[in-house]
Amino acid sequence: MQEELLIREATLAERPAIADLTRDSYSEYASSRPDKSWLDYEERTRKTILEDNNILRLTALLKDRIVGSVVLCPPYEMRRGNVLVKNIYPEMRLLAVSKDFRNLGIGAKLIDECEKIALSKGFKTITLHTTILMQTAKLMYERRGYSRYQEIDFQPTPGFIVWGYKKQFN
Ligand SMILES: CC(C)(COP(=O)(O)OP(=O)(O)OC[C@H]1O[C@@H](n2cnc3c(N)ncnc32)[C@H](O)[C@@H]1OP(=O)(O)O)[C@@H](O)C(=O)NCCC(=O)NCCS
Repeated sequence: MQEELLIREATLAERPAIADLTRDSYSEYASSRPDKSWLDYEERTRKTILEDNNILRLTALLKDRIVGSVVLCPPYEMRRGNVLVKNIYPEMRLLAVSKDFRNLGIGAKLIDECEKIALSKGFKTITLHTTILMQTAKLMYERRGYSRYQEIDFQPTPGFIVWGYKKQFN
């Protein structure tokens, strides 16, 4: 499988498919939020994937089929939930692997690629967000050397903390 997996920047034409894959992958968390709030989140996510000109979209393909994706964002300052988040490092977002292709190393390869790109751009630190709901991802990040970075935490709804994480390269 590994030899057949191709990771590359997504084309413009692939953006809708990536947005669909991301929506389907994250659907397992839908019940964690009130309907309206989840639909708003899905809409914002889709808009980011389709329209944001500042991000890099990576896609994982197996025999021409899109099976995973991730977005790499440059440092930013923006209102997220209840706070103005200033992230001085690049941030991996919206890591998603199609449900039929999980646990095959695709997510790990997408992260490898983001880390490589951040390093190649001269950054010595890369960041991400995760939540208590995303146990597979959280444990995977921690095994890979990511640790808490509270400076970029935020709360989309009161009491629900979206945790910042960072990994520093030597
Ligand atoms: C998180 C996600 C991207 C992982 O993708 P994946 O391709 O299945 O991950 P990999 O096969 O590369 O596995 C990475 C690690 O997680 C482990 N893992 C994968 N699926 C697992 C599962 N269901 N239960 C326990 N461990 C699992 C693997 O054994 C591997 O462990 P390692 O780090 O010791 O090698 C995928 O589950 C997903 O899309 N989830 C929904 C969206 C999401 O939560 N995104 C992350 C948001 S922060």
